[in-house]
Formats: sequence, structure tokens, C-alpha cells
Amino acid sequence: MSTTPVPPVPPGSPVPPGSPGPADPRGGPGAAHAGPGAAHAPPVLQARALCRHFASRAHPLAARRVLRAVQHVDLDLAGGRTLAVVGESGCGKSTLARMLALLDSPSSGTLRIDGRQVSLHDRQALRSVRTRVQMVFQDPLGSLHPRQTIGQSLDEALRLATGLARGERAERVDWMLHKVGLRSEQAQHWPHMLSGGQRQRVAIARALLLQPKVVVADEPVSALDVSVRAQVLNLLMDLGEEFQVAYLFISHDLSVVAHIADEVMVMYLGRCVEFGTREQVLRHPAHPYTRGLIAATPRLQPQAQQPEGVARTLRAEPPSPWNPPPGCAFHARCPHASAICREHSPRLREVDCRLVACHHAEGLPR
Ligand SMILES: Nc1ncnc2c1ncn2[C@@H]1O[C@H](COP(=O)(O)OP(=O)(O)O)[C@@H](O)[C@H]1O
Ligand code: SF4
Ligand SMILES: [Mg+2]
Repeated sequence: MSTTPVPPVPPGSPVPPGSPGPADPRGGPGAAHAGPGAAHAPPVLQARALCRHFASRAHPLAARRVLRAVQHVDLDLAGGRTLAVVGESGCGKSTLARMLALLDSPSSGTLRIDGRQVSLHDRQALRSVRTRVQMVFQDPLGSLHPRQTIGQSLDEALRLATGLARGERAERVDWMLHKVGLRSEQAQHWPHMLSGGQRQRVAIARALLLQPKVVVADEPVSALDVSVRAQVLNLLMDLGEEFQVAYLFISHDLSVVAHIADEVMVMYLGRCVEFGTREQVLRHPAHPYTRGLIAATPRLQPQAQQPEGVARTLRAEPPSPWNPPPGCAFHARCPHASAICREHSPRLREVDCRLVACHHAEGLPR
């Protein structure tokens, strides 16, 4: 891995007046459970009680319904760390990702980037942190402008966010192309001329070009050929380490998460149901839902090693998010559900050095 020093990027927008707000003294899950080396690193991203609700009516005279896509999520993310967010389709991963990448406003809750509280409604604060958080999407073709060459796309990102002169921008674009394993002449290519893996390399180059503190990657390798997934993942991880980027990595594939995550957050119907280090969550899962997800990923854990009752847990479909069941939202699918589970929603609490939202976490078969 090359360690060429990164030419500094001067910020394009002026430093906003006022100092950053005080850091929230409460540690989020990332702070409390960060692995070795991260304990003293200040979080570059902090979310507290983040919620996103969507309202709709089946027809104009019908009652207004509310879908709680993300509910009261807390997290802290430090530079050089990777937090993976996992869960079945529809559990709220992309909604959370969009809020953290400043592309969507939370319905409630707070978000701090580099200690500064940000809101999509506060344009000045937003301008000062916009370049510090970048996003890599699942579909690299959709995230690149079809009428811009690769070089133009990358140059535009720099031009809009920095005061660099044209020659300096060209130099930096060329440097970044090489960093992601592309050649200088590919700056002249159109997105459709590249393979899926090469396009995702361009998307990674664009995300890292502005030296962000945080990169939110939403299923960045799911749309790629299996043969190139590992290369793109390794590239992301190598560059993340080199640039000390904090990654929020969304994936439904636990075998991918097992390779890259420092911490893992498991979401179910908009809520965090388990949070801990990769080792804790993937090798010694405490929540029945996490166990079910792992049971559905044979490469992670052979069926023979699963605790009793695990393989049954994910047979049924998740409930409708428009009409979630009372109590624990997982109770209809859980082999360990009891009366309390059907009535009371379990709170997220510490069990065996990780956070779990389950009434019976201590008593489940190991
Ligand atoms: N703009 C929206 N309007 C209404 N519902 C939405 C919107 N965006 C997402 N949802 C709903 O929010 C829930 C979570 O979606 P999403 O975050 O995309 O889940 P995931 O990425 O985990 O598959 C889903 O039920 C989805 O249908
Ligand atoms: S609270 Fe009850 S239903 Fe929910 S996961 Fe735990 S045991 Fe299962
Ligand atoms: Mg999604």
C-alpha cells in the first residue's frame, strides 16, 4: 500500500463563526464499546436519539399513518474505525445512512460532526461540515453523471469544495485515480466505458478526494461481480486506514461485515437491537434476531455449531413497519418469546459487554 502524503485541501467555505458546541458527555454505543486504540479517539460523528418518521395516507380521507423507519439510534464513530450496520431489507439502514451523510433530516434527535451540531436547516453550519462526510452508494453507475468524464466528475467535486487552481486540481485528481488503482488516461473515459468495479473505484476516489472524516458506504459492493467484491472491499479498508476515515458500512451480508467491521450494530424494524465489537456480535451473538441472521449465513457459522432454537428464528417474514406489533417487535418470530415480550418493548441495555434489547438475553442457550 502506497503511503504518498496527501496534498492538503484548503477548505472552500470560510470558517463559520462560533466555536464547535460542547461534546455530548454521554457516550454512544461506539464510544462505550470501541475496540483497543479507539478508547481515547474523539468521535468524529455522534448521533443521539436519531429518529426518522415517514407519514402517509392510503387515500385523502384516510387517517394519517406513520412509519418509524429509524427510532432512537445513538452512535459514536471515531477516525480509523468501521461500524457496520446490518439487518434485513427494510429495517432502516439506508434511512440511517442518509441522515448521517447529511442527505436527509432526522425527524428528531441530534447529529454532531467533529463536535459541531449540524442540521440540514442551518445552511452555515452545514456548509462547514458538508465535505467532511461523504457517501458511497450501492450503484456506482447511478452515482456518476453520464455526461461527465471521470476526470470531469472528480474535478467538479474539488472545484465546488476547494479553492484549488485548475492545475492543482488536475494533479490531485490524477493522484487519487492512482490511489484507487486506476490509470491517468481513465480520467478521459465516460462512466459507461468502465466496468462496475472500476466505476465503484471512481466513486471511492470522489468520496475520499476531499479528505472527509466520515464515509458512509451503503451496500458498496452488493451490486458488484462476486469476483471483484474482495478487491473493492480491500481498497476501501486500505484507504480508510491510510486516511484515518471513520466508516459507517451498511450491509445485509454478514460475511462481508465479518471481514471489515470493528463494531457491529444490528437493526430490526428501525431500532438497534444489538451493538458490540465484531467478535461479540458475530461470534457470540446475544439477541435472538442476530442469532437468526448468523444462522442464515452458513459461511459464518456451520449449522452444527448453532445453539438450540436458532435456525428457526428467521423463518417468518418481518412484520409490516406500518403496523408493528406491540412489545418486542421480534416476538412473533422469536422462539424464546414470553408474555412480557408481547407487552413490553425491551430497552437497549448492557449484557456481557455489549448492548442488547432483549428481555431474556441472559437466559438464552449459549
Ligand atoms: N421516502 C420514504 N417514504 C416512505 N417510506 C420510506 C421512505 N424511505 C424509506 N421508507 C421506508 O422506511 C423503511 C426503511 O427503509 P430503508 O431505510 O430503505 O431500509 P433498508 O435500507 O434497511 O432496506 C422501509 O419500510 C421503507 O419502505
Ligand atoms: S425480548 Fe422476547 S421476543 Fe424479543 S428477542 Fe428477546 S426473547 Fe425474543
Ligand atoms: Mg437500503
